[in-house]
Amino acid sequence: MPPTPVPPTPVPTPGPVPAYARTAAVYDELLGDRAFDHLRAVFEELEGRHRIPLTSAADIGCGTGTFVAYLRARGVRPVWGVDRSPHMLSRALAKNRANGARFLLQDLRALRLPHQVALLTCQFDTLNYLLVPTELRTAFRDFARSLQPGGHTVFDMVTRPAGQPPYVRVARVRLAGPDGTSSYETHAQRAYSVPEVVAATAGSGLRLRAAHRVRGLRPGGRQAVRVVFLARKD
Ligand SMILES: C[S@@+](CC[C@H](N)C(=O)[O-])C[C@H]1O[C@@H](n2cnc3c(N)ncnc32)[C@H](O)[C@@H]1O
Repeated sequence: MPPTPVPPTPVPTPGPVPAYARTAAVYDELLGDRAFDHLRAVFEELEGRHRIPLTSAADIGCGTGTFVAYLRARGVRPVWGVDRSPHMLSRALAKNRANGARFLLQDLRALRLPHQVALLTCQFDTLNYLLVPTELRTAFRDFARSLQPGGHTVFDMVTRPAGQPPYVRVARVRLAGPDGTSSYETHAQRAYSVPEVVAATAGSGLRLRAAHRVRGLRPGGRQAVRVVFLARKD
């Protein structure tokens, strides 16, 4: 009898992995370092223009901790870094090992800092990961609760024109594994319009003081524009 053909064993393809689980290792090289130069320039411009005191700070969605390290190098103390990705946080810890910065593994939709701070930053499209407006409202309310009276928050978002319908951009980042398998990270981000952002701050305890279009890094599709906002807790 001829041997029964054995079907080839399919190479298992791991499914989706959480955002930044794999890209954390290459984030700085691919994006983070370039983003930081830009974020720092924009931040220092706003800081000077609005005389933002740097006495204590928290960087929400701190990623690999580059902005945390920058704030510590400028003498801000304490500085907290908060992120929901353990992979990004482990990079942040390594980068800030000896500088006294502190880190929290938290989702910003349930932000609980140990104490209020004078400055809260949330940069490079972190808030675009909130996919529904109610989450954005919750985040701003929590930002206000985490700020000292008179404290400031600087956050940026990729925005869409007010007349354009809301959309969520889903980017699948495919990653090749060493054994020939591939996996992918899914990054889903919602583009909000500026009026939606303004509406989400209403009743939060934050007062918007400035919104600037920023250039220098390519925002995601459909006429999206990155806007940096400055708000103050009264
Ligand atoms: C594009 S990275 C920006 C990182 C850093 N702010 C920077 O400028 O390089 C977005 C970061 O936000 C974090 N993030 C996204 N959604 C979050 C959430 N709901 N709570 C906490 N962190 C979140 C991600 O894990 C990631 O580290």
